[in-house]
Amino acid sequence: MAKAFPARNYKPRQTPRDAEDLPPPPPPRRGDPVVPPPSSATAADSAWEAQAGWYDKHQGVKGDDFYTTLILPAVLRLLDAQAGSRVLDVCCGQGVLGRALAELAVKTVGVDASPALVTAAASRAGNLERHLVGDARDLGKVLSAAGETVPFDAAATVMALQDLDPVAPVLAGMAAALKPGARAAIVLTHPCFRILRRSSWGFDDDAGLQYRRIDGYMSPLAAPIRTHPGMPADPSRTTSWHRPISHYLNACGAAGLAVVKAEELCSHRRGTKGPRFGAEDRAAKEFPLFLALGLVRLP
Ligand SMILES: C[S@@+](CC[C@H](N)C(=O)[O-])C[C@H]1O[C@@H](n2cnc3c(N)ncnc32)[C@H](O)[C@@H]1O
Repeated sequence: MAKAFPARNYKPRQTPRDAEDLPPPPPPRRGDPVVPPPSSATAADSAWEAQAGWYDKHQGVKGDDFYTTLILPAVLRLLDAQAGSRVLDVCCGQGVLGRALAELAVKTVGVDASPALVTAAASRAGNLERHLVGDARDLGKVLSAAGETVPFDAAATVMALQDLDPVAPVLAGMAAALKPGARAAIVLTHPCFRILRRSSWGFDDDAGLQYRRIDGYMSPLAAPIRTHPGMPADPSRTTSWHRPISHYLNACGAAGLAVVKAEELCSHRRGTKGPRFGAEDRAAKEFPLFLALGLVRLP
């Protein structure tokens, strides 16, 4: 029979699956303080500029295996972009989505706050991709300053809404840049199962189950995240925000973006050895890493 969680002195057992959480959450702390999100004036770059070299190398041309196996296929399914159409990629980073769309003969305009990531994107871009430095919370201004016409046929923001604050102006800007009825896609770290400082893996020896422990969910939290968790001496950080799923869904609705599809993306990675191999695989199939939303711009 599974034991109830001890209320005190609980230390979650970290498992190899934690390597999939980029970065893994630190052990939960009782009374973990809720840090109010910083003002939007301080959140424009979220420290990504300093991480651009690492991130570009990590993603490479096609993206890491989570991108090639889970994230990009989901975005392409949700957008269903047709050859010759034009997509707005909000928080484009080093341009991984634009390159995937270019293979389908789809044009992309990417916007990102990090000049170094935009330079990296532009250095690999073909003639279907254009990348602009700008704040995703002010898309109208960025696009008009660059002479980009609206509306677009589709829009996406991939693994970025949890890296900025607030999200409402980003979604409003996306909606304003879309044709009525156009599709949009959002991918996030799953807001229910991967929660800053409040989620971790544990193992129930009696039940032989790997479980996900959630120590808090409803209260928003902003926190620095280590970029290289495997290198304790490296102080690099970006800021990340936890918000409950209702925050994202309501922000989409308020922007005039109707959710028409949701995909919860579970890890494709599988353990290869060890006594907990089966339990880890089950957990990988049960607890999604990413949430992908398909949206339609309301008329
Ligand atoms: C995890 S990266 C994802 C990049 C890209 N979408 C990808 O999937 O590889 C998050 C990105 O959000 C960008 N970002 C954060 N805040 C932003 C803002 N206010 N305006 C534009 N980009 C922002 C960062 O510069 C960074 O490139």
